[in-house]
Amino acid sequence: MDIKEYVHGYALTAYSFDGNAEDNTVAELIYKNVKGKKVLDLGCGPTEPVLNIFYPEAKEVVAVDRLQENISFAKNNERLLGGIIERAMAYKQGHLSKMGVKPKVRYVLGDVTKRLKLGKSDSAMQIGCFGCLGTRKNFELAVKNAYRYL
Ligand SMILES: C[S@@+](CC[C@H](N)C(=O)[O-])C[C@H]1O[C@@H](n2cnc3c(N)ncnc32)[C@H](O)[C@@H]1O
Repeated sequence: MDIKEYVHGYALTAYSFDGNAEDNTVAELIYKNVKGKKVLDLGCGPTEPVLNIFYPEAKEVVAVDRLQENISFAKNNERLLGGIIERAMAYKQGHLSKMGVKPKVRYVLGDVTKRLKLGKSDSAMQIGCFGCLGTRKNFELAVKNAYRYL
């Protein structure tokens, strides 16, 4: 399968917010833990426009991924994610907060095992990224770097 097709498929199916309990759990964990005005999402994938709804107080997001296709999708296809974003917002407003947050997102192409120029953030999160770094050493490097950005 072509990588663009894969990214497109992932973006439209990873989170649906159509009553899926796992999506709701992810939303709640983000809302509860990812605090502060500047937030870092490591291994953001193409779904950043959906998940950034749940940062409780973010004004700025730095979203990092090593795959250009993921970044391009997230930057250019927010309209395609519209239905998911609407349902995610409805979940947020029904269960977490009525406040609408629309942070400014800076996308960075980069490898989380490397020391990147990301500045400092108030919170850092990763979903599904550190677990697929291949080796324990890479995992440890990614965790160490994540702390450096805080
Ligand atoms: C399972 S996806 C999760 C994407 C997104 N966080 C989500 O919740 O939908 C894992 C992501 O980690 C990214 N990734 C994997 N290894 C990486 C690395 N070394 N540096 C940066 N991103 C990486 C992949 O490109 C992919 O977008």
